[in-house]
Amino acid sequence: MPNDVSRRDFAKLAGLAALGTSSDAAAAKAEERPVTNDILRQFPHDFVWGTATSSYQIEGGAQADGRGPSIWDVFSHAQGNIEDGSNGDVACDHYHRYKDDVRLIKELGCKAYRFSIAWPRLFPDGDGRPNPKGLDFYNRLVDELLANGITPYATLYHWDLPQALQERVGGWRSADTAKAFADYSGYVAEHLTDRVKTVFTVNECGRFIPFGYGLGIDAPGLKLPQAEVNQARHHVALAHGLAVQAIRAKGRAGTRVGMAENITACVPAIDTPENIRAAEIATRELNAGFLNVILEGRYTDAFLAWAGKDAPRFTAEELKTIAAPVDFVGLNIYAPQAYVVASDRAPGFDVLPMPASFPHMSSPWLRIGPETAYWVPRLAAKIWNLKTVYITENGTSSDDQMTPDGKVHDLDRVMYLRNYLGQLQRATAEGVPVKGYFLWSLMDNFEWVFGYRQRFGIYHVDFDTQVRTPKLSASFYRHVIAKNALLV
Ligand code: BGC
Repeated sequence: MPNDVSRRDFAKLAGLAALGTSSDAAAAKAEERPVTNDILRQFPHDFVWGTATSSYQIEGGAQADGRGPSIWDVFSHAQGNIEDGSNGDVACDHYHRYKDDVRLIKELGCKAYRFSIAWPRLFPDGDGRPNPKGLDFYNRLVDELLANGITPYATLYHWDLPQALQERVGGWRSADTAKAFADYSGYVAEHLTDRVKTVFTVNECGRFIPFGYGLGIDAPGLKLPQAEVNQARHHVALAHGLAVQAIRAKGRAGTRVGMAENITACVPAIDTPENIRAAEIATRELNAGFLNVILEGRYTDAFLAWAGKDAPRFTAEELKTIAAPVDFVGLNIYAPQAYVVASDRAPGFDVLPMPASFPHMSSPWLRIGPETAYWVPRLAAKIWNLKTVYITENGTSSDDQMTPDGKVHDLDRVMYLRNYLGQLQRATAEGVPVKGYFLWSLMDNFEWVFGYRQRFGIYHVDFDTQVRTPKLSASFYRHVIAKNALLV
């Protein structure tokens, strides 16, 4: 609501005037001070505020306590794959500094933390004999979080596949990896769900399959034909379904399970009813290979027609497994990917070309579209009838520079967060069932192929000294959390 709307107008809008309780004098007094819009910027009282990280990006301790190599160790150590020639051997040394890092989370006022478990720490060979020392690290971390009043949200796969599985069966090219993932998931459920009540199976199938198996940009660096890429994606969907079953079988009662996906983010170019409908269709079709098959239990006709001879091979039984019911859906939201308008051509939408001058953050791929935080959960909840959605990642890189007196004024990140959170608040106010938000990321870390050059943290990390320093955005986020509202 604009600030020049008077309290009386506001009362009228809110239906309060009808109560007839305000005298003219009181109303006149209220007129003197324009109403602020605070009341309209609140998040739901039980909204979960958190931050997110992933194992390979922060842990380091690459050889500590029997951890096996992952595909990212091998990939980052091969020359020419990572822009700054770095790797995750040490990263933020979180493996040894987790207690300090839990304190950073606490200082933000976060009540939740989303981290990932390194599969090769628990199963250095991918399957077979577990490594109890690997599990111990997560026991320590979870206990430390709980002792500090922070609820753990654990992701089982954030891209660090045991190298042994890559070598033995070809990683996600084989359904054997899906079976190994289910065993690993069941093991984690057995040992951690007495304390970890929310588990994400897979993070961003929509990135690690095309980038790792199609484009050769991410580990394991393969450039396979489309049919094999589609098959690998199918194996990940299967792994998710098998893991859901394993977690339900081995986990404690009350364990909730879902996935975290970089959904292809569709936005109606202009929000007419026709374009909104088109954006719904686009959301379903452009996510047909993963989210939709999980949530609907079938590949859409348009997806199968588009894939043609490259379509994945699957059985009805597999589709049933893939569609094992989930308790929530996690959406990673960064850039708008498809501005959509209605079309007469089946299936009913067109994606508009993106102008070269469309604004973006310091990472060129990170286009600025705050409305994505409104439309994406709204459209997803509508088409898949979702009751619980989490924004499992949102954030931005910035060319953060530290001033001589040790400050990082990341005003661009604050701008980004303020705008995205404003749109998210709009969604929650309209009843879109977003239950929590995990800011990416707690601290600067190993940003995959960009190495340490792209910084996504709200804590700055000096990678020479491992000193963490809160950026301006950390103060901003602390303030939002404390008020449970977006105040400007
Ligand atoms: C990933 C993170 C990554 C972030 C920023 C997401 O795609 O899940 O691991 O650091 O985006 O690029």
